[in-house]
Amino acid sequence: MGEGSRRVWMEALALSLAWGADEALEETPVDRLSPRPGPPPTTLPGPAGGRPLPRASPRPAAGGPAVSAAERAAAAAESPEALRAAIAAFEGCSLRETATTLVFADGNPEATVMLVGEAPGAEEDRAGLPFVGPSGQLLDRMLGSVGLDRTRVLITNVLPWRPPGNRNPTDTEIALCLPFLMRHIALVAPRWLVLLGAVPTRALTGRAEGIRRLRGKWLEIPVPGLAGPVPTLPTYHPAYLLRSPAAKRESWADLRLLRRKILSAGEKK
Ligand code: URA
Repeated sequence: MGEGSRRVWMEALALSLAWGADEALEETPVDRLSPRPGPPPTTLPGPAGGRPLPRASPRPAAGGPAVSAAERAAAAAESPEALRAAIAAFEGCSLRETATTLVFADGNPEATVMLVGEAPGAEEDRAGLPFVGPSGQLLDRMLGSVGLDRTRVLITNVLPWRPPGNRNPTDTEIALCLPFLMRHIALVAPRWLVLLGAVPTRALTGRAEGIRRLRGKWLEIPVPGLAGPVPTLPTYHPAYLLRSPAAKRESWADLRLLRRKILSAGEKK
């Protein structure tokens, strides 16, 4: 390869990485630009003179048959292990095809505090455990600051599979995975839920306000299968705190609210 071509390829690679394409999905590269034989067409006509637009793959409508299938599979699970197996067998969410592993939960399944994050990142996808990368290390330090650790909490995510390139989860992906999360909460029956960031907060509370508004306030979330609503505390996601360390003060205040609840319920710190 000549020096000029090498430079062009290196620039293309750097651009792919900047756009979040940081995982190889197949052994060999796929040329999506050359014409391919046979119907159906995989592209739509693009803007006049421009490159054709890729045809979006059909997605299940939120509330459609795939969501109903997820609800049925989740409801049939009678234990966290059975739920994990049900998620592993669920074929309705295409994220499972691009993820390396299913990331279900970490910590104590009998914990009274359950934390819910957004979705696995690259490290979690490799390890099969939530929050093991840099934001997980910060989360561990935050928990430690109020006398908690992974033996005293259970940690999970809204999505059990990593979205490619860590892109934001779509509403459809959230709708497909939410029945499993709700069932997980019902099976664990925590006394308190902590929602890490905007995605779990919106998914579980249905509230449109941003995380800045909702953090630091106890909300009540009804969970099918549980006798009463679960007291729930939204707070910032640790990844946001890594980018905006000034917000750690507010997170610390939120964690003190949690500690106060635990202490006032008579649990050892
Ligand atoms: N961010 C999350 O929301 N969850 C993880 O498991 C890791 C990073």
